[in-house]
Amino acid sequence: MAETSTIGSGVALVGCGSATPSQRISNDQLGQRVDTSDAWIRSRTGISARRVIGPDETLTGLSHQAAANALTMAGWESESVDLIILATSTPDDLFGSAPQLQAILGARGAVAFDLTAACSGFLFALVTAAQFLRTGAMRRALVIGADQLSRWVNWDDRRSCVLFGDGAGAVALEATSAAQNGLLGFQLKSDGSRGDCLNLPQVQNYLSLVAGNSHQQGGFQSIQMNGQEVYKFAVREVPAILQTLLKATNTAPESLDWLLLHQANQRILDAVGDRFAIPQAKVLSNLAEYGNTSAATIPLMLDEAVQDGRIKPGQLIASSGFGAGLSWGAALVRWQGPI
Ligand code: COA
Repeated sequence: MAETSTIGSGVALVGCGSATPSQRISNDQLGQRVDTSDAWIRSRTGISARRVIGPDETLTGLSHQAAANALTMAGWESESVDLIILATSTPDDLFGSAPQLQAILGARGAVAFDLTAACSGFLFALVTAAQFLRTGAMRRALVIGADQLSRWVNWDDRRSCVLFGDGAGAVALEATSAAQNGLLGFQLKSDGSRGDCLNLPQVQNYLSLVAGNSHQQGGFQSIQMNGQEVYKFAVREVPAILQTLLKATNTAPESLDWLLLHQANQRILDAVGDRFAIPQAKVLSNLAEYGNTSAATIPLMLDEAVQDGRIKPGQLIASSGFGAGLSWGAALVRWQGPI
């Protein structure tokens, strides 16, 4: 076949990393706070524990650890990074935490910004970064998915607090020839008309500004969720978008090495795996230990499976993220590892 590729026409995933907080809260411990039980949480969600950021930790710090690990695996100097996208809905600074991350990493040449798409954030950021690399405008990108939903969970609401945890994961993405391309296809979707089944609205707190005029004092409520509606959304839309992706890329489900879904609920993972007759051993899952870490779940799971040798260079991974917005997406990825 004729070599038509040029640098800038492909992107490769050449490194990954992750970091989680040190505080681990088991289901039994949560049961001391709200009326729930280990048996209920495990049977309805598959979750056994979650990590929660403590007083000495920050989202930026976790993101730094994850990104630094990805840099090390990729064998990159931090100064060679052109782009940093931090997918998060829970930055340390509402103006964005990515520039702080850039500074701590010493990635002086990189432009850095946050991207918010809740639990779909990592996939949205991966696809966004790939556009900069594919045009040839940039060569090296770090994509980080990180969240600290523990700050915004109502820890007295048993219907939602049992689901979430904190964490960070990162991927190093490099412009390559088309022959080495590792992002084989993607689909992204939004539907704001259904957004009220999972959101984190601002408080309505209007204060007097000057005579006859008021201003809203900023602040957020806690996570509001209609669990059943979100569940139905996930088991309907995730198989549908994966089906579209597989068809568009002419990929048979049996040719996939791994299914790497947003880690929200084991029952959702099982339902999607069953839909494509993908054996359970190929459906990656670590939510038992971490719960739903929002934008972090996919890179956190990727890093764990790369580190323990399950995911090997050249393997084909179908990934899907979904969550608040509502937003959802899917990507077909070939893991490369260090070039
Ligand atoms: N412990 C014990 N009982 C609980 C409970 C808890 N943590 N949470 C809810 N219950 C109770 C409810 O109060 C209800 O009791 P009732 O029948 O007496 O009213 C009963 O369990 C069933 O509640 P229901 O909401 O129907 O449970 P469910 O089977 O739908 O499971 C979720 C609830 C949240 C686990 C499930 O809907 C879910 O996973 N949804 C998706 C959420 C999600 O993934 N969100 C993030 C997406 S990015």
